[in-house]
Amino acid sequence: MKILEPLKLNGVTLPNRIAVPAMVTRLSGEDGFVNQPIIDRYVRYAQGHVGLIVVEATAVHSNKSGPLLRLSDDEFIPGHRDLVDQVHSTSDSKVVPQIIHFLKVARSGWRQTIDSLSEADIERIIEEFGQAAARARTAGYDGVELHSAHAYTLSSFLSRRNPRRDDFDGRTLEGRLAMFGRVMASVRRHVGKDWTVGVRFLAEEAIKEGYTVEDAKLIALRMAQLGVDYISLSVGGKFEDAVHREGQPLYPYTGYSGDRCMPGDWYPPLPHVHLAAGVKQYINSKGFTVPVISAGKISDPVDAERLLQTGQADMIGMARQLLADPDWVKKVEQKRGDQIVRCIYCNVCKQLDENFKEVTCFLWPKGLVQAPADATDGAAPQWPEGGAKLVATVDKGQVKLSWAKAVAGAAPIAGYNVYRAEDDGAAHVTEAVKSTKHSDKVVLGGLRYTYYVRGHDAAGRATPPSDAVRIDLPVPIAEPVVSSSSEVRHVPH
Ligand SMILES: Cc1cc2nc3c(=O)[nH]c(=O)nc-3n(C[C@H](O)[C@H](O)[C@H](O)COP(=O)(O)O)c2cc1C
Repeated sequence: MKILEPLKLNGVTLPNRIAVPAMVTRLSGEDGFVNQPIIDRYVRYAQGHVGLIVVEATAVHSNKSGPLLRLSDDEFIPGHRDLVDQVHSTSDSKVVPQIIHFLKVARSGWRQTIDSLSEADIERIIEEFGQAAARARTAGYDGVELHSAHAYTLSSFLSRRNPRRDDFDGRTLEGRLAMFGRVMASVRRHVGKDWTVGVRFLAEEAIKEGYTVEDAKLIALRMAQLGVDYISLSVGGKFEDAVHREGQPLYPYTGYSGDRCMPGDWYPPLPHVHLAAGVKQYINSKGFTVPVISAGKISDPVDAERLLQTGQADMIGMARQLLADPDWVKKVEQKRGDQIVRCIYCNVCKQLDENFKEVTCFLWPKGLVQAPADATDGAAPQWPEGGAKLVATVDKGQVKLSWAKAVAGAAPIAGYNVYRAEDDGAAHVTEAVKSTKHSDKVVLGGLRYTYYVRGHDAAGRATPPSDAVRIDLPVPIAEPVVSSSSEVRHVPH
C-alpha cells in the first residue's frame, strides 16, 4: 500500500504517508510550557504509528493569548525536549512543531492588522521565527513547520487582502511573498540546510476577494524555489468573515471560511482534494517534487490510498480523524481497518478549542483526556440473543431508527455507528451515537435507504452488522403554489 510507503523529507525518513496536521489541544496552561497531558497527546499518535506528527501551533513570541505552547524563549526548550524524547522512544514516527506568529485581538472585536507593523516590528518577527526554529532543533525535533495559513501573521502577508503598500505590497504577488521569503531565509540561517523546514498555507482563502488555488499554485512554486521540504495545504479560517461574539476575542473559524477550514458533517467527504491535486500537479510540472499534504475530511483508508496512487497528493493529513482514533495507521498496517473509530465531523473538538477548553473527542468515552488505548485481542461486543432488532419508522420527514443494546465483550460499549446506503450505493457511516436511537433528518422522498448499525467499544472492536432495514420514501405531493399575475414583481438590479 502506498499509504505505508516511507517518505524522505530532507534528513529524515517518515515511516509512512500519514500526517496529523497541527491541532491546538488547549492542554497547556497560559504559561506556554509543555506538560504531561500535552506529551501524552503526541505520544498517543506515535503509538498509533502516525508518520508525521505536527505539534499544535506554538508561538514564536510572547504576545498574550489563551492556552498555547511557546518556543519564544530558551526556557521552553526542556519541555519540548521531553516531548520529543518520549515520542521518539515510542516509535519511529517523526515530530515537528508548527511555529506561529499572531497579532493582537481584543474582546471588543478589535484586531491588529499587518499594516500597523513598523519595519522594526517586521525585522523582529523575522528574527523570532529564526530563533524559535533554532530552539526546535535544539530540542531534538525532526524539523519545523512555518504556520502561514489561516488568520495569522504570515498568512495575512500572503493574502490578496494584504493592505500594505511598501516592500510587502499586497497589490502584487511578489509583494505578498516577500515576508515569507525573509522568514524562510532567517529560518535557514538559524537551522542550516540539512534539517526539515515545512510550511502550511492556504490552498484557497475562502473569503470575499481572497485568493484562490490559482495564486496558491504560484505561492507553492515560490516556496519550492525557496527550499521548503514539504507543503501542507489548508483552506480558509480567516478573521475577515469571523463572527464576533460579545465580550469574546474574534475566533477565525466562525464564518464561512471557518466552515471551509474544518468542514462539518454536512460537507461531503474530501471537499479539498482537488486543490492539493492542482497545486501538486503545477509544481511537479515545473520540476519540483516537494511533497504536498492534502487534508480535509479524509478518513477512509480506501480514499487515502486512491489519492496517493493517482498522484493527487504525496501525503494525507487527517486532523479530526486521528484525534478520534490515533491508531488509524496501526489498524491499516494490521489489516484491522474495520476497527477504525470513524470521525463523524461533529466539530465538538472545534467548539472546545473556541472556548479555550481542553480539546477532546466526542466519540471517546466520557471523562477521558486522551484517546482510549487500542486493543488487538479480547472479545468484541455482540448483539443480544434475538439480534439487534433494528426498527425504522418514517415520521415528518425523518427516518427514526431504534435498536437493542449490544452486549459488551472485553470492554464496555462506547457507542454505535449507523450505516446508510442510498438506492443501490455503498453504505457509509452516517452518524455515530452513544444511545440506541437515531433520527436521520436528511432524507429525500423518492429515494430508497438501507440502514444497519454496529455497536463498538472504545478501542473500535465492533459487533457484526445488524440486520439491515430498507425504506422506500414516497415523494410528498404538494399543491403547486400559483401566484396571480398582479403579484408578480420585477425587481431591477
Ligand atoms: C480543534 C482544532 C484545532 C486546530 N488547530 C490548528 C492549528 O493549530 N494549526 C493549523 O494549521 N490547523 C489547525 N486546525 C485545522 C486542522 O489542522 C485541519 O486542517 C482541519 O481540521 C481539516 O482537516 P480534517 O478534516 O482532517 O480535520 C485545527 C483543527 C481543529 C479541529
